[in-house]
Amino acid sequence: MEADCPIGVFDSGYGGLTILKNIARELPGYDYVYLGDNARTPYGTRSYDVVYKYTRQAVEKLFEMGCRLVILACNTASAKALRTIQQVDLPRFGPDRRVLGVIRPSVEALPGFTRNGHIGIMATRGTIVSRSYLLEIAKLYPGETFRVTQEACPMWVPLVENDEQDSAGAAFFVQQHVSRMLREDPGIDTVVLACTHYPLLRAQIDRCIPAGVTVVEQGELVARSLRAYLQRHPEIERHLSRRGLVSYYTTESEEMFDRVGGRFMQLPVRSKRIEL
Ligand code: DGL
Repeated sequence: MEADCPIGVFDSGYGGLTILKNIARELPGYDYVYLGDNARTPYGTRSYDVVYKYTRQAVEKLFEMGCRLVILACNTASAKALRTIQQVDLPRFGPDRRVLGVIRPSVEALPGFTRNGHIGIMATRGTIVSRSYLLEIAKLYPGETFRVTQEACPMWVPLVENDEQDSAGAAFFVQQHVSRMLREDPGIDTVVLACTHYPLLRAQIDRCIPAGVTVVEQGELVARSLRAYLQRHPEIERHLSRRGLVSYYTTESEEMFDRVGGRFMQLPVRSKRIEL
């Protein structure tokens, strides 16, 4: 059997690059295809039906491109579309296709960070309204007492997508949401950046977070979880091609993607525009 499949990584825009970067560092040598739906970002304010439809289209495109394994490097898509894609769509594509999300690996890692069980989840409105983190925490830790405070930050993705992460406007909106969350539970000792765009606001976030509070980014957690997954699933791993190639696709302007994406990756990026 030929190992000819790249790993697909999907996000509504640039945020998933923060995941790709960590996966490619943890698992170098594999081939990756990144797809950013920049033309239709943000997903965080959209309905279940729309997020599911857009995500399904992206997954189908990545399958067409030869991927068998796709990572939804987007919390909103993981929250609103992953389960339906796994249950309804994957059976149509055959038993050798897999789609994984970013929420479960993040929740699995929580006990390694929190000391008092007080967690803050900062995410898009879509992820917050879906209650996916609350449900996953209840599922993985039945009977344990976590106090989880959710904070929707609807302005943060547009700021990042528009390359405004270092602006005074970004400072204002970061302060606003961090303060609101900490007012609701001043005991929070662990804050999860539960949107893949948010690491780009990390410098602003660190300015507002009190000493002693741990800020958790998802990139490394997802990368380590994928490594373990591939070890557990040699039947998937043996199909993965290993030429160390990374290809980038965007549904918007290539020039813009190369400029902003290149800064995210700290590497030269050459994307191709595609339609979904
Ligand atoms: N990066 C996506 C996430 O992790 C969200 C972006 C969006 O709103 O499009 O939730």
